[in-house]
Amino acid sequence: MNDLPAAPDAPDGALLSVRGVDVGYRTGRRSRVTAVHDVSFDLYPGQSMALVGESGCGKTTLGLALLRLLPRTGVVSGGEILFRRKDGTRVDVRTLEKERLRRFRWNEAAMVFQGAMNAFNPVLRIEDHFLDTFRAHERVGGRRPRGEILERSARLLETVRLDPARVLGSFPHELSGGMRQRSLIALALALEPQLLILDEPTTALDILTQRSIVERLTELREELGFAMVFITHDLGLAAELADRVGTMYAGRLIETGTTRDIFHRPRHPYTSALINSVPPVAGDLHVPESLPGGPPGLNALPPGCSFAPRCAHAADACTVTRPELEVLEPRDAGLSHAAACLRSTDTELHAEGVFRD
Ligand SMILES: Nc1ncnc2c1ncn2[C@@H]1O[C@H](COP(=O)(O)OP(=O)(O)OP(=O)(O)O)[C@@H](O)[C@H]1O
Ligand SMILES: [Mg+2]
Repeated sequence: MNDLPAAPDAPDGALLSVRGVDVGYRTGRRSRVTAVHDVSFDLYPGQSMALVGESGCGKTTLGLALLRLLPRTGVVSGGEILFRRKDGTRVDVRTLEKERLRRFRWNEAAMVFQGAMNAFNPVLRIEDHFLDTFRAHERVGGRRPRGEILERSARLLETVRLDPARVLGSFPHELSGGMRQRSLIALALALEPQLLILDEPTTALDILTQRSIVERLTELREELGFAMVFITHDLGLAAELADRVGTMYAGRLIETGTTRDIFHRPRHPYTSALINSVPPVAGDLHVPESLPGGPPGLNALPPGCSFAPRCAHAADACTVTRPELEVLEPRDAGLSHAAACLRSTDTELHAEGVFRD
């Protein structure tokens, strides 16, 4: 049995409790890089959390690790991924054996990747993807009749505003990028998972298609009540879609808080810099402050704070001591504001406006 009693540090109401997760990739016979370090957070039912951060910060690696979808070279080398199943029992996704893992995916948690084309088998029609998904993952009652599955698939496509008559019989390449991405979201929702992980699901799409998918996702989340981890480079999307935001830098979660906390009162200079690097959509035209340099190489992390070499406000101590993620404002349901910065409470920086109020 893989079901665990509720772990003492996983709050009862949490859907997902990630505890001290490390993820590495084997890069050679004896070499390995750690792409995610010591990440912990709780996600509650129905919550939407955006994961933001520059390229290479470990967002996709973390998302894949949560559903054990890492490539063969990827290893979750530490921590726990505790998930509360529909029947109320808690499992550590890390220890699920093959058959239970297969049922966990799609039934309890599903992931939508950026490249919808790659997620579909090019020689199968969309209807075959639905048939396969229902038949492979449904647990009760044996095989549902084909007609019943197609009827259900049609309703799912309608929920993402697609015409089933146009889509079900088509091959993936016969659909536009937006239609494919919507079909993929419908497929991910097929078995009514409690958690949906979306990795840059709209990045390749034009702005209008992006907007309409995002609006529909928000409505669906309200209707169906699933929780969401939304991985994005786009802070505007994060602000719109998420109840809370986690900033990742060099594999670590370095700030987390409600969307309002993060955008109005960031407490990590990296989060501030990310926000300041976005050109405003409206208002005065100003050149966004750029963030010089890039994240450090995974094998060459500086001692102390990984962001210190790029941080305009780093003090001597920042280059020596690695700051822990510290709760600055405690709140229930995973909504505390926490930051990993030695200077996050520094009144001098508040006066300078680095940490805005
Ligand atoms: N299969 C792999 N083998 C070795 N290293 C990998 C592999 N996949 C990712 N990495 C490394 O892990 C780190 C984190 O990558 P990841 O793709 O998770 O970042 P990301 O935040 O999703 O970036 P992006 O915003 O570009 O999608 C990067 O340094 C990347 O080079
Ligand atoms: Mg990624």
